[in-house]
Amino acid sequence: MTLINSNYLNLPGSYLFSEIARRVRDFSSANPDKKLIRLGIGDVTSPLPPSVISALHKAVEEQARAEGFRGYGPEQGYAFLREAIVADAYAGLGILADDIFVSDGAKCDIGNFQELFDESCVVAISDPVYPVYADSNVMAGRGQAMGADGRFAGLVYLPCTADNNFVPQLPKERVDLIYLCYPNNPTGSVLTKAQLKAWVDYAKENESLILFDAAYEAFVREEGIVRSIYEIDGAHEVAVEFRSYSKSAGFTGLRCGFAVVPATVRGRVRGGNGHKDVPLRDLWMRRQTTKYNGCPYIVQRAAEAVHSPQGKSECRAIVDGYLRNAGLIRQAFLDLGLSVCGGVNAPYVWLRLPEGLDSWGFFDALLKGPGIVGTPGAGFGPSGEGCFRLTGFGNPADTTEAVSRLKKFQF
Ligand code: MLT
Repeated sequence: MTLINSNYLNLPGSYLFSEIARRVRDFSSANPDKKLIRLGIGDVTSPLPPSVISALHKAVEEQARAEGFRGYGPEQGYAFLREAIVADAYAGLGILADDIFVSDGAKCDIGNFQELFDESCVVAISDPVYPVYADSNVMAGRGQAMGADGRFAGLVYLPCTADNNFVPQLPKERVDLIYLCYPNNPTGSVLTKAQLKAWVDYAKENESLILFDAAYEAFVREEGIVRSIYEIDGAHEVAVEFRSYSKSAGFTGLRCGFAVVPATVRGRVRGGNGHKDVPLRDLWMRRQTTKYNGCPYIVQRAAEAVHSPQGKSECRAIVDGYLRNAGLIRQAFLDLGLSVCGGVNAPYVWLRLPEGLDSWGFFDALLKGPGIVGTPGAGFGPSGEGCFRLTGFGNPADTTEAVSRLKKFQF
């Protein structure tokens, strides 16, 4: 038999959201009459905005004519989209169209980007955390089997709890790679520019790299809250940013996102090999051109429409709706005298469970009782135990119904 990559055996048997889907499926087949409200995985419910639909139709029609037909596109993404991104999302932030790499979503980019780094790199993650950062590094051998403490050996965990307002402290040791996600998944916490500056300064002093996941930037509504890491001086040397159209424009099914890799972000070469250091942008280009043939043309035209004036206003209205949902859930918990983070400038509401409740137990209780699907905090890491996540991505009627069921629930 062929030798496998045994790093995979260090992972839990299934991915968090697959495990939740399995439990919900089992529950539903045993209780077919129970109407469940799904506020677990952060999947959008609003249809695609009209400007996106119209761009899709137009691009599909082009494919029917010889003069409009497109085959393989540029692996980095079409210039029309990269230029629209820079003009709209990075105006004045010193990002160039050449720094943008369009893809089929932030999850793939974030999972794949770690391939550029040596196996010996020390990786820091927040705890709780979006599981992709940890799991993809474990697959590559940078983290080993999980201990009794629920942590993969070898990864540096940065606890985010109520004690630090769900914002991690800088690592005590030197680390090579730091994953940050703001607005945060799962806690819904946000960073001010001063808070993020401390991370950029740390990365500069320690020659580390920040992998900044900005998938939820469209939810920021307040001044002073960071949307892009390139708002911070010095970030262009130490940070790569990932963005997604999934939550901001409803592309969870359509699939499109992008990575921003400025030419000034460089990595060290072990032993020299004729080089001192190399731009990560060149390596990412090499990786993508080898393993990826680019996001479909019609999807890139749809993404371009998101950056048009009409697209922006339609997307903003959709995100406003999700923020309203998140606000309703947040307020319901506050009215019940519970403690919450998030739900403001973020689609996720992170509930602190009353003393003595564990998060998977609460998941089951919420499923069996009010019929609400959420996500147990422990699924995001050991510091998530005792917490529970609900999303604002449901439709308004379901969210209102969920809130009324929660108000009747005996915590
Ligand atoms: C989540 O629920 O955490 C997200 O939907 C997962 C994702 O974006 O991949």
